[in-house]
Amino acid sequence: MNDAAAMGGTDREAPGRAPHPAISVRNLCKAYGDNRVLDNMSFDLERGRVYVVMGPSGCGKSTLLRHMIGAEEPDSGQVLIDGLDIQSANRRQREDAKRKYGVLFQSAALLNGLTVAQNVALPIARHTDLPRSTIDLMVKLKLELVGMGGAADKYPYEISGGMKKRAGLARAIALDPAIVFYDEPSAGLDPVMIGVIDKLIRDLTGKLGITSVVITHEMPSIFRIADEVMMLYGGKITFRGTPEDLRNSTIPLVRQFINGDPEGPINAPRQLADLSERLIGASRRKEGAGP
Ligand SMILES: Nc1ncnc2c1ncn2[C@@H]1O[C@H](COP(=O)(O)OP(=O)(O)O)[C@@H](O)[C@H]1O
Ligand SMILES: [Mg+2]
Repeated sequence: MNDAAAMGGTDREAPGRAPHPAISVRNLCKAYGDNRVLDNMSFDLERGRVYVVMGPSGCGKSTLLRHMIGAEEPDSGQVLIDGLDIQSANRRQREDAKRKYGVLFQSAALLNGLTVAQNVALPIARHTDLPRSTIDLMVKLKLELVGMGGAADKYPYEISGGMKKRAGLARAIALDPAIVFYDEPSAGLDPVMIGVIDKLIRDLTGKLGITSVVITHEMPSIFRIADEVMMLYGGKITFRGTPEDLRNSTIPLVRQFINGDPEGPINAPRQLADLSERLIGASRRKEGAGP
């Protein structure tokens, strides 16, 4: 059996189609002390699709992301990027794997002492031997792609939050990655700018065939951008499906999350509800005290 068949593929698949999923997470476990954040998690992500990872604060989304980019060692389990196990890979292989993906962190993480263009040029200069003129051309192209052509010579402190995110995105795609990870790209942005970023995520996936893994809580974004949604809870993927499946899901956890119900199976709000119940209950008891 060839690789494609082993992965569930068939002979009818287009010739040259890669035999591996873009990302394969296998039996991933990670605990911080008693806190089991990733509990034997497994999933595959295919190429050229937008995946949304959602779930309540502290459920382990960023932790999962750090493991997928090889920034953190799991207690056990594997992450395969394009079939390569990034933990057991040698340094050279790991560097190659790292060039396959870009990351847009929550803060955009631009260097303040460098212009937007210089920030975008940084990974290209670091990872390639390309001449300056070629790098400049690549930077210009990437800034045009994110609608930041006019702001190349600005410093990060001179531009808005939305522009910083777009500059961070230009830097994330500087080396033409196959995969882009986004950690809460809409955090702190107004609805219009969220729409702009959403459109960019879809465009990059469509035009460049990029696989996008987007951590977000924004329900309108999820329905706009996702091909598939995964919800994390209790160290597991508790839901995986299309936005339509999400809308129709009867899983109480999922319903609570998409409806923003303060009461339900998700712990933290429950504790808050208990607290307000105790407070309100206490004052009610006081009011009702006496015969
Ligand atoms: N380096 C760390 N050391 C200890 N605990 C951590 C560390 N990183 C994350 N955690 C804990 O792991 C849980 C998941 O965190 P995180 O992945 O940041 O959640 P999310 O991104 O979903 O909000 C939280 O309880 C957090 O406090
Ligand atoms: Mg996070």
